[in-house]
This record gives sequence, C-alpha cells and structure tokens, in this order.
Amino acid sequence: MITVLSTAEMSGPATYRRSARERAKRKSYTMPDASSAGTIDLGGDLTVNRFGFGAMRITGDGFWGPPRDSDEAIALLRRVVESGVNFIDTADSYGPNVSEELIAEALYPYPDDLVVTTKAGMSRTGPNDAQADGFWARDGRPDRIIEACEGSLRRLKVDEISLYQLHMPDPKVPFEETIGAFVRLKEQGKIRHFGLSNVNEEQIRIAQRMIPVVSVQNRYNLDDRRSESIIDLCEQEQIAFTSYAPILGGGHGDKAVRQIAKQHGASERQVMLAWLLARSPQNLPIPGTGHKDHFEENLAAVDLKLSQAEVASLTRDV
Ligand SMILES: NC(=O)c1ccc[n+]([C@@H]2O[C@H](COP(=O)([O-])OP(=O)(O)OC[C@H]3O[C@@H](n4cnc5c(N)ncnc54)[C@H](OP(=O)(O)O)[C@@H]3O)[C@@H](O)[C@H]2O)c1
Repeated sequence: MITVLSTAEMSGPATYRRSARERAKRKSYTMPDASSAGTIDLGGDLTVNRFGFGAMRITGDGFWGPPRDSDEAIALLRRVVESGVNFIDTADSYGPNVSEELIAEALYPYPDDLVVTTKAGMSRTGPNDAQADGFWARDGRPDRIIEACEGSLRRLKVDEISLYQLHMPDPKVPFEETIGAFVRLKEQGKIRHFGLSNVNEEQIRIAQRMIPVVSVQNRYNLDDRRSESIIDLCEQEQIAFTSYAPILGGGHGDKAVRQIAKQHGASERQVMLAWLLARSPQNLPIPGTGHKDHFEENLAAVDLKLSQAEVASLTRDV
C-alpha cells in the first residue's frame, strides 16, 4: 500500500516525473499501489508493474470522438499513474486518435518509468454499434502501418514508441508483409519493442522469426479461456501476456466468484483480476474504465491474495 497525493500536489506534469513511491512519502492516507502486483520485464530493458490500464474507454460513445468530459479523463489518467500503474495500453484506433491525444495531454512529459504502448493495424469508419464489430476494419498494409506509427509518434509526442503492437492480423495482407513494416520501424529506431495482439501460436512463431516479440495481447478472462495455450507459450518464451477484456462479461454472478468475493469482502471484478494475476507471472491485465472510482476499485485487486485452493476452484469453474 502507498499513500496518495492531495489534489494540489497532483497538479502539473512535473509531478509525474517523480516515482510513485517518492511522491508517496509525504502523504497522509493510503490506497493500493500497482507495484503490489509485482513486476514484469519487457524486452530486457523495461520493467513495469504487472497491473496495467486500458485507455480505450476514455473516448466518446462507441469509442468514437472525445469523451463527454475530457477533464475527467485527464484526471483519471493522472490518478492511474499516481497509483503506480506504469503500463498504459492504447491504439490509434481508439477515438480514433483521441485516446493517444488525451494521454499526451494528461501525462507529457512522461515519467521515466511509464510505458505507453500503442497499436496499429485497425481503421475506423464510425462509432461502435450494438453489434460490436461494425466500423472496425483491419488494415495490415505495410504503408498504413508506417503511416500509423508516424501519427502515433506525433500524438504521443515521442521520438520512439517503447512498445508498438500489431492490433490484429489482416487476412487480406500476407502476415509476413505486415510484420515486415514493424521490422523496418524497429530498424529506423521509431519503435523499441514489438508486440502482437489477437494472434494464435502459429502467428507468434512466424513473427518471432522476423522480430523479437515481447508481448501478446489477447482477450482472456475467467470465462474466455481460448488463449490458455498462448499463456503457456508466453511463459516458456518470457513474453508478457496483456489480457484484454479482463473483467468484461466473464465471471460476473458466477457462484464461485461470488462466494470468494464475499469471503474476502471484495468485489467480483477484484476477484477476477486477482485470479488473472495469480494465473501466470507473465499475465499483465489491462482493465479499462472511464471512471476514477471504478479504476480505484479494480486496482485494489493487487492486494487481494487468493489461496491456491481458490485459484484452483476458479480455474476449474469455466
Ligand atoms: N487488442 C485488442 O483487440 C483489444 C480489444 C479490446 C480492448 N483492448 C484493450 O483492453 C482494455 C480493457 O478491455 P475492455 O475495456 O474492453 O474490457 P474490461 O477492462 O474487461 O472491462 C471494461 C468494462 O467494464 C466496466 N468497468 C470497469 N471497471 C468497473 C467497475 N469497477 N465497476 C463497474 N464497471 C466497471 C467498464 O465501464 P466503465 O467505463 O463505466 O467503468 C467497461 O464497460 C481496453 O481499454 C483496451 O486498452 C484491446
């Protein structure tokens, strides 16, 4: 546990250049800190706390346009970093552009230990609709990946993206051609590390022959276990697995989750996140929210230690 800043102390970007622990020394009340989740290595030269933040939901309705209250989104992002989270996931397609722009507005100049990871490979034609996948199009053409990277560098105000991910393979473009664009970006020093998202084992293996893969981001939660074997592979290869949609849908109202939550005086979402942290040391969940109180509730999962029996019962209970 660490203590948190007063509102006055939180103002101004210089605040974020100091580490959360240094800042905490002077404070008077306590809240959980992401460092309680332990750390994970990314590519040998970056270490982040194993509890991240997904910045898709700081955008407008349907992940389109600006949020209803940009000041609230900025305050949320600052709270996220104040709470020891130093891994923020975004994409050029969130908004589009809006999530990256808000991150820069809230946090630039960035603290030294903050990894803002973004993605390329999806384009948007309109807000998400109730059918979910409408208006997101895969675009893995190499020229588009290069162009997307230039845009993200500009919006995030950096010379190099510390971890750049392919959002989703595009069946219309040979996978190797798409990955080739990331190889070029790495050679040019525009990205430091490379990660994949929405991939299977074969795609990971193909990419690994072309470029080191430091992270894989697939949908994974208590109910959606399609990536079990990918997590095992990530453990073997020491690749970070950044579970997306970690609390979406899965597990709510499930009897075992409810019972364990009750025993610990925790929320069901906290149990779901604690289970993810316990499931594998390579797991780095990135829960997303547009609300500070939801973020704080979720973060408390880092202090929820499940027993081996509880982890086993949840793992079995699909
Ligand atoms: N690579 C990919 O293809 C991909 C796809 C999807 C997402 N992602 C990434 O993964 C991140 C997380 O995924 P996600 O946002 O879809 O799912 P999620 O984090 O599992 O769940 C987010 C949903 O839960 C709600 N929520 C969060 N905390 C809550 C709380 N304490 N109480 C009540 N409701 C709560 C959020 O609404 P509120 O905003 O109202 O809290 C939102 O509806 C995204 O932000 C994005 O960075 C990646």
